[in-house]
Amino acid sequence: PKNILQDNFGRDHAYLRISLIERCNLRCSYCMPEEGVPLSPKSHLMTYEEIYEIAKTFVKHGVSKIRLTGGEPLVRKDFPVVLEKLASLPVELSITSNAVIIDKFIEVLKTNNVKSLNISLDSLNRDKFKEITRRDNFEKVYNNILLLVKEGFKVKLNVVLMKDFNDNEVIDFINFTKTLPITVRFIEFMPFDGNKWDMSKMVSYSDIMNIVYDSFDETQVERLKDAPNDTSKNYRIKGYTGSFAIISSVTNPFCDSCNRLRLTANGQLKNCLFSATESDILGNLRAGNSIEPIIEKAVKAKFKVRGGMNTLEKLQEPERHNKNRSMITIGG
Ligand code: GTP
Ligand code: 5AD
Ligand code: SF4
Repeated sequence: PKNILQDNFGRDHAYLRISLIERCNLRCSYCMPEEGVPLSPKSHLMTYEEIYEIAKTFVKHGVSKIRLTGGEPLVRKDFPVVLEKLASLPVELSITSNAVIIDKFIEVLKTNNVKSLNISLDSLNRDKFKEITRRDNFEKVYNNILLLVKEGFKVKLNVVLMKDFNDNEVIDFINFTKTLPITVRFIEFMPFDGNKWDMSKMVSYSDIMNIVYDSFDETQVERLKDAPNDTSKNYRIKGYTGSFAIISSVTNPFCDSCNRLRLTANGQLKNCLFSATESDILGNLRAGNSIEPIIEKAVKAKFKVRGGMNTLEKLQEPERHNKNRSMITIGG
């Protein structure tokens, strides 16, 4: 059969990110506007049967990895059912979560063969955590991260860095990897609708490395081999158990090796994190139409770099990211 998941630049899309819900139990300022976002009516959200049907079509065409995102995926009432349905497909299943309630799901995750989780945590300081997330849940998240490690899951921490807010914690986070077998990934702050992004608030890849080299000698910092299609550039401090990494979608995007597609909770396919257009998969599924031609068309329309924002100048034009969603309804 022809390869409907290959785009015009020869990129094969074997990785599908599915957002399960638009709601979240935290309120991070870089992810959503203070007033929240308009939520889709429930009837416009994919049911678990629909998620399964759509995922099955993608798997038939070569998807081998599915990541569940949100909002916060664990807040979805039927999360265990969704997970069980997807676990019956021949895919690697992963989850991105804020870990606030993950202790309630350890068995469900194990039963359904989830081996790795990416957890968002932007500060190791309780007051700062509260400031950024607008909720006082630091201890829960911290303890749940330790619990996940203890239970044998592979854990990556996502840290979105913001200038003069948490850039003073880079070394604390790296020291967190001294004895813990985790990867701490520092993420360049990216622009989305309503998150008041400004280039001057971003801490760049080179800023981060400068902070690292202020504290560590060059001979102590080891550049690791990146996995194929990895979002991050990976490093280790010699002798440390864990590692750290940088996701530099602003100053050093990895679009050349992009293998990702995104399905939003209301069933729209985004061919890129920054795509301004979406394709109505759910509407067509409900109308009884074949979704394969729609998927194929969406993939072929994918831009080479960042949804067409190939330069930093373009990325900084507000009218471009205002056409995108807020991160909370994309899922990262
Ligand atoms: P792995 O499956 O472990 O590689 O995870 P991931 O890094 O793809 O996913 P995660 O949900 O943990 O996201 C971490 C950061 O990477 C977030 O800021 C995402 O927005 C960003 N990210 C994930 N996928 C993409 C992508 O396709 N393009 C860009 N530009 N950024 C991405
Ligand atoms: N810029 C960079 N990363 C972001 N995330 C959410 N919003 C942004 C943003 N504006 C990250 C969170 C989460 C992941 C899915 O996306 O850290 O872990
Ligand atoms: Fe892929 Fe778009 Fe991310 Fe580039 S910005 S890596 S094309 S999803």
